[in-house]
Amino acid sequence: MAMADLSNTKPKPTVHIVQTGETYVCSESQSLLQGMIKLGRKCIPVGCVSGGCGVCKVRVVKGQVSKLGPVSRAHVSLEEDEQGYTLACRVAPTDEVWLEVACKLEKLFSKGFAAPKGEIFNK
Ligand code: FES
Repeated sequence: MAMADLSNTKPKPTVHIVQTGETYVCSESQSLLQGMIKLGRKCIPVGCVSGGCGVCKVRVVKGQVSKLGPVSRAHVSLEEDEQGYTLACRVAPTDEVWLEVACKLEKLFSKGFAAPKGEIFNK
């Protein structure tokens, strides 16, 4: 009697977005960003989807990811890499993973550059 092939029955890892509490499942063969886009979700900012813009920058706070391609040092420095920062379009989950969205757009908003029209900001 032949053994059943269980290789395709392994559940896809769950991805958690720490700031919002959102979750989605992502195949280990897809990038974190591609998996999210495939489901029509908008948990992580989407840009070029090829590692060039840095919009999808995240920090892995728990869990493991594997690199699908090079991560540009223009967007993730060596120090940031050691702290868990990466690009969601360049890594895939290898297990359940918890992420913080860390894109430059978030920094602009937190520094007040996106203040409403007519409002004065001091930073
Ligand atoms: S979407 Fe541009 S670097 Fe990931």
